[in-house]
Amino acid sequence: MFLTGTSRINEKNHLEIGGVDTVELVERVGTPLYVLDEAEIRKRMKEFIASFQAYNIPFQVAYASKALCTKAMCYMAEQEGLSLDVVSGGELFTAIQAGFPSERIHFHGNNKSEKEIEMAIDANIGAFVIDNLYEIELIKEIAGRKEKKVNALIRVTPGIEAHTHEYIQTGQEDSKFGFNLNEPAIAAAKIVQASEQIELNGFHFHIGSQIFDMTGFEKAVERIADFYSIVQYELKTELPILNTGGGFGIRYTNEDNPLSIKNYVDSLLESVKNHFVKRSLNIPEIWIEPGRSIIGEAGITLYKIGSSKDIPNVRKYVAVDGGMMDNPRPALYQAKYEAAIANRMISDESEKVSVAGKACESGDMLIWDIQLNQPQAGDLLAIFSTGAYNYSMSSNYNRIPRPAMVLLNEGNADLIVERETVEDLVQYDRVPERLTVQKNIGIK
Ligand code: LLP
Repeated sequence: MFLTGTSRINEKNHLEIGGVDTVELVERVGTPLYVLDEAEIRKRMKEFIASFQAYNIPFQVAYASKALCTKAMCYMAEQEGLSLDVVSGGELFTAIQAGFPSERIHFHGNNKSEKEIEMAIDANIGAFVIDNLYEIELIKEIAGRKEKKVNALIRVTPGIEAHTHEYIQTGQEDSKFGFNLNEPAIAAAKIVQASEQIELNGFHFHIGSQIFDMTGFEKAVERIADFYSIVQYELKTELPILNTGGGFGIRYTNEDNPLSIKNYVDSLLESVKNHFVKRSLNIPEIWIEPGRSIIGEAGITLYKIGSSKDIPNVRKYVAVDGGMMDNPRPALYQAKYEAAIANRMISDESEKVSVAGKACESGDMLIWDIQLNQPQAGDLLAIFSTGAYNYSMSSNYNRIPRPAMVLLNEGNADLIVERETVEDLVQYDRVPERLTVQKNIGIK
């Protein structure tokens, strides 16, 4: 049985999360439904902080809000002492609206717009993570106009290929992100150093996502330590911060075997200590940006099962009331998930089925070939580990409204994102006057 966080089977043989019976929950709030296990989120946030505190190295753990950005998430990150990584005006606005302390906000993005830069400068965010020369010029111009000086890290591409899906690798040389090592990054650093509007605090790298094997980090840190010795010599100054990005892997299925958060952090900090000390460099303040490893396993999606199609000797399709609109990851990355029948967790009878979504597209499959307890129309299907990059990458394909999101903890179930309605979906539609007066010239 695959369970995550506080999930357990209760006396009614139902899936219970955060002390809440999921079957009773959906009777009140409907399906599809994203639920979040608050205790699991906070436990993971605390584990990151405690793992760093065991070292005598200044640090910031910035939650990568791209994994799941809502005001409630910003509140929890703030309460647990995390910083926040945002990558767009929308994420920044969410953080500001949630009252997140701006000095702990780091702003990423490979094509920040003037408007976004302006918004970030006005909010006095903690740091820009500068991606390219165009951005340097924009920041100089906008900060200059506002007579402000901003703090920044420069993003570099360490030339390391992480062992993960190629669409979520980012640190290899052929990447749209950041400056390549060494010359392009040094040239950028010199431009920033010479500017009056930007204070250079250090560098950032991110090698990819859903990483289990720390050798990629180890290699990247080694390269970065070499780079710090060169660039600090060239700039004749010490850079106080190094940001090593996010990317720690989680458990989607029993085949995934991630390290514990403590092991990830230990391994990272040991490499940093090792490679910086070896080069007689001071150990910089370390920033990291975990997204998936905070929220991934804390999210579960609940669906109602509807139609099915049995093709003898081929397969049985069982369809749910959501799909690639609320979880595009199987279609995009061949991502695998575990699931259970939440209203009949333990049963003697099970069958192999494939879980289809309701979108008009053959590729809209959530799980291929899974053993489930005799799924019937009306049953509740729980898919685990859907907290990261599901809601944040969701769409309204087929004009299907997005699910609601509920935060579960100690028997409480609180709505943190309202269910979208079909009225919401048409609210931005406009019909030009001339369409309303044109006569029907179709064939009679
Ligand atoms: N920092 C930077 C600069 C990033 O680009 C990312 C993720 C993170 C931190 C957080 O990485 P995490 O700890 O969550 O692995 N949509 C894909 C994942 C894209 C990741 C993009 N960047 C997915 O669903 O798997």
